[in-house]
Amino acid sequence: MAERKAKMIVDKSFRIAQVDKRVYGSFIEHLGRAVYNGIYQPGHPAADEQGFRKDVLELVKELDVPIIRYPGGNFVSNFFWEDSVGPKEGRRKRLDLAWRTTETNEFGLGEFAEWSKKAGSDIMMAINLGTRGIADALNLLEYCNLDTDSYYADLRRSHGVKEPYGIKTWCLGNEMDGPWQMGHKTAAEYGRLAAETAKAMKTMDESIELVSCGSSSVDMPTFPEWERMTLEETYDYVDYISLHNYYGNAENDTEDFFAKTQDLDRFIRTVIATCDYVKAKKRSKKTLNLSFDEWNVWFHAMDADNEEMAKRPWQIAPHLLEDIYDYEDAILVGLILITFLKHADRLKMACLAQLVNVIAPIMTENDGGAWRQTIYYPFLHASKYGRGVALQPVVSSTLHDTKNHTDVTDIESVAVYNEEKDEVTIFAVNRNVHEDVTFEADIRSFEGYTVKEYLALENEDMKVANSVLGEKVAPYSKTAYECRNGVFTTVMKKCSWNVIRMGK
Ligand code: AHR
Repeated sequence: MAERKAKMIVDKSFRIAQVDKRVYGSFIEHLGRAVYNGIYQPGHPAADEQGFRKDVLELVKELDVPIIRYPGGNFVSNFFWEDSVGPKEGRRKRLDLAWRTTETNEFGLGEFAEWSKKAGSDIMMAINLGTRGIADALNLLEYCNLDTDSYYADLRRSHGVKEPYGIKTWCLGNEMDGPWQMGHKTAAEYGRLAAETAKAMKTMDESIELVSCGSSSVDMPTFPEWERMTLEETYDYVDYISLHNYYGNAENDTEDFFAKTQDLDRFIRTVIATCDYVKAKKRSKKTLNLSFDEWNVWFHAMDADNEEMAKRPWQIAPHLLEDIYDYEDAILVGLILITFLKHADRLKMACLAQLVNVIAPIMTENDGGAWRQTIYYPFLHASKYGRGVALQPVVSSTLHDTKNHTDVTDIESVAVYNEEKDEVTIFAVNRNVHEDVTFEADIRSFEGYTVKEYLALENEDMKVANSVLGEKVAPYSKTAYECRNGVFTTVMKKCSWNVIRMGK
């Protein structure tokens, strides 16, 4: 069989765009144990004076998450934000219809604002455009962002919060195209409501940025007509359109699983094309950007979750969506991050869904510690080393076919140039499941650069996972490479994640 190989040219003048650090965002929903027994657990030995788990905060800070979406997700579509603020004794318990649980409201908006400050993250706030509408969105915006002498700003002050929270980014509802959504809408219904809500919100606070709801997955029958119809209404008032998509390997076909970022790339391109179509139709000068505000692998726990919600409804903080990620999931997460970086010119925000316990890189034990799932590592590496200018990957790679995909590159890669640190990092995945691939990168435009560190995830066992007992999947420092006369060479193991950091 012919040698599998890939050649990459990394040139500092082939620039895609500055990476917006918000592509390393994440998501905390009032769902399962994300909030309760996740980020918040008064009485736990690791809890601080506000009840926030310090062990979790440490891991979140290590991931360096610049923005976190809150409070949902599907949860937001029947969320009454007023119940979640003010003195805790007076807070009403509510039934959450999205996940069929009981929301105690012991932790709410104010607590989340405090927690995010400690985590070093901004908030991406979602409003309820399912069971509520314009007036409630305005009340919430006034409560959060205004310093006026008016009812909701006064209410915030009466809750002891003198300065406004100053939340910049707001999502106009969540997955409103999905029939499962409380208050689901047709594209025509949502487009009008979102446009009018956006207009009113920006009248109240012109400094905010708004995200119009796109399709809840590329597989929705209304995609991409939903995008076209809703944007025709919202285009002038909003700044981003959202994309959501989750991936799974229920068929247990690793090769095809790794090829799914081909579909992701097409999804992103189609949304960009639809935005630009509406721009052209409107003769608009404004270019709309993308917020991929829900993405991850999600399939492991689905059947168990459906049974739990059907058979044991209205629990408080049950174990829901607690997917335990394996090695191959980490590789897919790496592939997704590479795909995002390749679209750095239009994809400005993205939220790994989610952050703690619920389809998350960080897990907690109610009576024990916090631990890192396999997917933690590619996200950590990208967030840490993927800041700077994304460079156009000029790569020629051997190809393979999978069950549902053709001409799949063995190697997927992208480089990010951090001018401040005088460092360039190559992120690469060998997604060939059968063979190692010889990888060569021409870095001659970076004079005097050598390898500072080469981190890799390699494993023969696609199903191996981490747990509170230990990390079977963790990166190691790889030394098997050469770097001579501006050419870097290594053999990338089959099914591997590779992070090559170079500098002077
Ligand atoms: O992240 C889990 C759920 O996935 C979110 O609540 C919803 O928006 C999506 O369907």
